[in-house]
Amino acid sequence: MPLKKAGRNFQARCPFHEEKTPSFSVAPDKQFYYCFGCQASGTALTFLMEYDRLEFVEAVETLARMAGVEVPREGDRGGPREDHSRIYDALAQAEKLYCRALKKSDAAVSYLKDRGLTGIVARDFAIGYAPDGWQTISDALQSDRKQGDKRQGDQQQGEKGFSEKDLLGAGLLTKNDRGRVYDRFRDRIMFPIRDTRGRVIGFGGRVMGAADGPKYLNSPETPVFHKGRELYGLYEARNALRRIEQLIVVEGYMDVVALSQAGVANVVASLGTSATTDHFHKLYRYCEEVVCCFDGDAAGRRAAWKALENALGTLTDGRQLKFMFLPDGEDPDSLVRKEGKGAFLERIKGASPAIEYLFAELSSGLDLHGLDGQAKLASLVMPYIDKVPDGVLKQLMRNRLAALTGLGGAGLDAGVAAPKPMRTAQPARSEASVLTPLTRRLLAALLRTPESLQSVSADLRARVVDYAATDFFAEVVNFIDKNPQADRSEILGRWAGSPLAEALSGLASAPRTLSDEALAAELADGLSNYVTGKDREARQQLLAELKAAPSPEKLAALRALQAAEPGANLPRKKRSN
Ligand code: UTP
Ligand code: MN
Repeated sequence: MPLKKAGRNFQARCPFHEEKTPSFSVAPDKQFYYCFGCQASGTALTFLMEYDRLEFVEAVETLARMAGVEVPREGDRGGPREDHSRIYDALAQAEKLYCRALKKSDAAVSYLKDRGLTGIVARDFAIGYAPDGWQTISDALQSDRKQGDKRQGDQQQGEKGFSEKDLLGAGLLTKNDRGRVYDRFRDRIMFPIRDTRGRVIGFGGRVMGAADGPKYLNSPETPVFHKGRELYGLYEARNALRRIEQLIVVEGYMDVVALSQAGVANVVASLGTSATTDHFHKLYRYCEEVVCCFDGDAAGRRAAWKALENALGTLTDGRQLKFMFLPDGEDPDSLVRKEGKGAFLERIKGASPAIEYLFAELSSGLDLHGLDGQAKLASLVMPYIDKVPDGVLKQLMRNRLAALTGLGGAGLDAGVAAPKPMRTAQPARSEASVLTPLTRRLLAALLRTPESLQSVSADLRARVVDYAATDFFAEVVNFIDKNPQADRSEILGRWAGSPLAEALSGLASAPRTLSDEALAAELADGLSNYVTGKDREARQQLLAELKAAPSPEKLAALRALQAAEPGANLPRKKRSN
């Protein structure tokens, strides 16, 4: 989607939605992009977060790198940041080498064919083969070899030359107790593992056929590879799909590849560990629904429970987590080959929501007709409810527990943080600080004809009311919205005695100047501007907080705000308020 100059701005087809003619515009002077089609908008920073799905800190670092500046870090020991480009380069070279070697190895090709893989999927995932030798990697990539062919001591590294240290650091070579250095991966099918930007950060290598040692060998932890954070297949899924609505988490490399070949591309694998909290944070950056697949055996159940425990703290409103257990002796790879894509997707549809799974597990073996069983269930469930962020899911869990144990909501409230009650007018606020020219104008209109609020779309009203807890104007709108019968005197009465009473009655006595139609238009427009402004403030506030102390929760909140942004405020003529 190349940018084309169009007047002062640049234009392109929007990268955030499908379109034939360009409606994505970049204003270099404002340092801002906006799509007239889908209303995506933001800055270079939000672009990297939204499009490349980088975390805030990653995005800042990427921009800094592009601009050639260093980002100072708290706790930096003052030294320059470590540069891992040698490691990335070495891994990229190794990937190419393994792919070339696969083409030359009949045994490896027939192993993959026997397992039903097509050449296309092997290419999509860049599956390769590590030849059976001790120094394939060093022969091809290393330029500071001292043994064997004698080289000059002052030999410079060639263009693609890596030092033994680079290759050890990349995890491609390994060193034994006696100090001998050799290829880590030998005679194995190689699965490159990528980061979200597509760079190879490690490998998984499978023996062909039966093994005496471990079936899979993975890259060790390196400066660029952290097993508990990476997900195999995420980059490939994102590449294959424009929009990811759901991600399926499976256990194995082959499961990801086989499902993708069968046309289920929204699959990733945790790398031989059960999904971690970091994994869930990452998954929920891409979509709102995660389905975890596990073997039906004891080990699978244990892994599922661990995953649930790790996920609970990430389940903010809107996020869904489901669990699916496979029939005995099957994995997603074998199942999709046996049953086909349709049947597999049916199973996914039938997955249990986390709350069902949690209650089923914890109440198994308990007699919920008796008080003992009920008390036991409450004591088992409460710690898990505590882990869930305040929101709908937490409330549902409390309700469910109340229903199962016969305990009223009130009895449980003691142990669970209740949602914060909405604040009412704060006495300390003065009129000057809480009303703007826009909100004064809108209040004048609303106080004269409160019923005109009903002419505004419910959606827009809801967006305004979202700010009722923190902004006086929205609080008044909320009151009018909830009390559609209330006339002017009732509204004024609601704030009688508050410091804002005088301001309100002053506004209420302003003469009416607009027709019903004009008033409706004025309200719709004004409220929409109000919401846009408030959203912007909230985003700026969050961004500032994020900069001060990055956290996944704040990032999620920011993303939610950004997602909410387009709906109500279509591009409009500029108005002075
Ligand atoms: P599985 O044993 O289920 O293997 O391990 P699989 O993916 O189905 O592989 P195939 O079908 O036999 O080829 C699931 C995952 O656990 C990790 C790997 O990530 C693997 O994909 N694992 C397994 C290891 O890291 N080492 C092992 O020795 C075995
Ligand atoms: Mn398998």
